[in-house]
Amino acid sequence: MTPKTWIAANWKLNKSPRESRAFFEEWARVAGESKWDFGALGILFFPPATSLETVSQLRNAQSGFEFGAQNCCSESVGAFTGEISAQVVKELGGKFILVGHSERRSIFQETNALLAKKVALVQSLGLTPMLCIGESLEQRDKNQTHQVLSQQLTECLVNAKPGGALAVAYEPVWAIGTGKVATVEQVADAHAWIRKELERLGFTGTSILYGGSVKADNALALAKTKDVNGFLVGGASLEPHSFRQIIQAAQSDT
Ligand code: PGA
Repeated sequence: MTPKTWIAANWKLNKSPRESRAFFEEWARVAGESKWDFGALGILFFPPATSLETVSQLRNAQSGFEFGAQNCCSESVGAFTGEISAQVVKELGGKFILVGHSERRSIFQETNALLAKKVALVQSLGLTPMLCIGESLEQRDKNQTHQVLSQQLTECLVNAKPGGALAVAYEPVWAIGTGKVATVEQVADAHAWIRKELERLGFTGTSILYGGSVKADNALALAKTKDVNGFLVGGASLEPHSFRQIIQAAQSDT
């Protein structure tokens, strides 16, 4: 099975409901000019939780994209003040949930054990977890990249259903929001390793996205790289034209 290519926008803590609406008004024009093959390529938005309902309404009026949440609680309902319910994301029509973004791991101290619970919950609801993994600069310099990726995959997927819905985003921590993009060789090596590890764990046909300072000018070379099945884009996804250029680059390679 050929993994589907996903181009995903991670808006992080940007865009209010009003700003999300303005983005999609322009997006309708920008995307309307494009001839994308939605069989091979999917477009995905991860707005902040407070804009999910707005994006859900916009999705009902405008096709050509899916959406999901940047995070969720490891439980669906109950006494968890301030958390985001995956069950509600599903009710709103969301299809994906990002699990374990490096900002969640480093700023909010999320552990692989907690992330394993989230992956299992998201799968059990029929949604797709997009598990984020990646090494720090220190780990790369110590030649620990493969070991870190294997550990993150093994521990975060311990409760996951083999063969169940799953996407993985490889995001080297040192490339996120820094303008320092990983080289094609580094990405090819990491993605080949992740593919091998996923197969060992019973997951085939999984889309493996690359993330970390993806821009229009580096997207084409990365899109051509073996085992790169799309991108998770932060900064360059906030503006419709730059996001479209990244999709164009990926489309020309599908
Ligand atoms: P960036 O963010 O594209 O701004 O580096 C990517 C991400 O954090 O998902």
